[in-house]
Amino acid sequence: MRTTYRSFAKVNLHLEVLGLRPDGYHELRTVFQSVDLCDLVSLEIAGRGVQLEVVDQGLPSDGRNLAYRAAALFLETWPLADGVRITLEKHIPMGGGLGGGSSNAASVLHGLRDLLDAKQASDGQLVQLGRSLGADVPFFFTGGTALGSGRGDEITALPDLPERQIWLVTPAVEVSTASVFREYRELTADQEVSSMGPLVWGEDADWGVVDGSWNDLETLVTSRFPEVRRVYNALVEAGAGLVRLSGSGATCLAFFEGAIENAELASRLPSNCRVFRGRTLSRSMVQRLRVVQ
Ligand code: C5P
Repeated sequence: MRTTYRSFAKVNLHLEVLGLRPDGYHELRTVFQSVDLCDLVSLEIAGRGVQLEVVDQGLPSDGRNLAYRAAALFLETWPLADGVRITLEKHIPMGGGLGGGSSNAASVLHGLRDLLDAKQASDGQLVQLGRSLGADVPFFFTGGTALGSGRGDEITALPDLPERQIWLVTPAVEVSTASVFREYRELTADQEVSSMGPLVWGEDADWGVVDGSWNDLETLVTSRFPEVRRVYNALVEAGAGLVRLSGSGATCLAFFEGAIENAELASRLPSNCRVFRGRTLSRSMVQRLRVVQ
């Protein structure tokens, strides 16, 4: 039997870099938000070991792929007589700050537990395995609107913001997360670590709270990558109420107060961008839509 899961993307509505940790990672305070852009991850218990087929995007289908590594780690932890066959249909742009690979890894771990009825695998253990694969993975077990602290991997659910339309625009440029963090560290080496003010995100938070949020990596990434700057500026000029870099980029997210047509926006953007118009997702919608019926 083959089961297909939706593996949703995330954006960062807020991202603060608080300092360097002894493990070489950065201490973050970030707010994640699920969006309805998704990859499809199909799982089947069959064959031997891990077999991965990636549809589209010419991605590796071996241990360089996080979905593969997630399945291998699951089988190491909970060995099986049979193997796992994974088919991954990609729609989330790679290296775009949308957490595609991390989301796929979480879908594989979560899906394998469902399929194997692996009762011995607790939620905490799944999250722990996910964390060892990447700092963004734990968020995808929670979804909706959530606070990430530590490396961004300690997740606290926040009250969901009402679902709303969101635009995601990914320029055709690869941004390396590791090098963005490295350069940010060099640039801010002689500055005080940001004084962690209160994050105003109460029980009755509405979208107004996002106006008072920011992304510490945005100035650096928009100044280093003209492609990102062009997209960012085009979204502002098109009248977006809010434009923000997601994670370390390259994707810019935007909200428009009024209606804007795809064609109108596309005419303002560089031609080689990927444009997605979708919706933010609440935690309950993420759970409800997780399995493709
Ligand atoms: O955990 P992940 O592999 O997604 O992170 C990619 C890179 O981004 C890390 O190797 C690290 O250089 C940088 N990073 C960081 N601090 C974080 C998250 C990521 O320095 N909190």
